[in-house]
Amino acid sequence: MGVILTAKNLQKIYGMGEVKVEAVKNISLEIEKGYFYAIIGKSGSGKSTLLHLLSGFDKPTKGTVKIGGENIHKMKDKRLSAMRREKMGFVFQSYNLLPEFCVEENIRMPLYLNRAKTDKGYIRSLMEKLGIYELRLKFPSQLSGGEQQRAAIARALAARPDIVFADEPTGNLDQQSGGDVLRLLKMMKEEWGQTILLVTHDMEIAQAADKVIEIRDGMVVGRGA
Ligand SMILES: Nc1ncnc2c1ncn2[C@@H]1O[C@H](COP(=O)(O)OP(=O)(O)OP(=O)(O)O)[C@@H](O)[C@H]1O
Ligand SMILES: [Mg+2]
Repeated sequence: MGVILTAKNLQKIYGMGEVKVEAVKNISLEIEKGYFYAIIGKSGSGKSTLLHLLSGFDKPTKGTVKIGGENIHKMKDKRLSAMRREKMGFVFQSYNLLPEFCVEENIRMPLYLNRAKTDKGYIRSLMEKLGIYELRLKFPSQLSGGEQQRAAIARALAARPDIVFADEPTGNLDQQSGGDVLRLLKMMKEEWGQTILLVTHDMEIAQAADKVIEIRDGMVVGRGA
């Protein structure tokens, strides 16, 4: 189905002077449209850093990331924000739900920002599939960690993004809810040809992915189908 994202010679160095950390060392990747990728590796290996570079959340020290043929780190901020809002969904390690809005408002937020029409049936089915429909009028501070995580996942999927970037999206969930999230992501991929890039420690999740990218010490050491 073609390549949706290309990364070339990506490098990320944190810090300056004596305390530099080279978190990503010369990574080149091609992400094919419509596949579910798992990014695996030990704690501290550079997975989150890589995901932040690929999603335009952070700038690389060197190298390029192209999405749909355009270098995202060369774009004007406004254009990158629009692209991230319209085409990408994010579930990061901190959920970043807005505390002054209820669950359902948080989930609809990307649609408000895009001035997109809300498909009520779709938003409801997302909440139902993630087991948070009953919680839709509560505020983030009234939810458990796992419930907040599920709300953040619903928010990431609300605008039906082309690419979903997820960092340990099931890290706080029990096996049942983790399985529900996984099934939902796979279903969305099948239905809309969504591309998923998901960081995980969980080998069961990695096995459910179409392709696995293994990171060690800031480098790609393995690629599996
Ligand atoms: N903002 C930062 N400033 C300095 N060093 C950082 C920063 N963020 C990450 N690092 C360092 O970069 C390396 C890679 O970190 P990263 O967060 O990408 O790892 P990770 O594979 O996501 O780990 P985990 O599985 O624990 O989330 C680590 O050595 C970490 O200490
Ligand atoms: Mg991480």
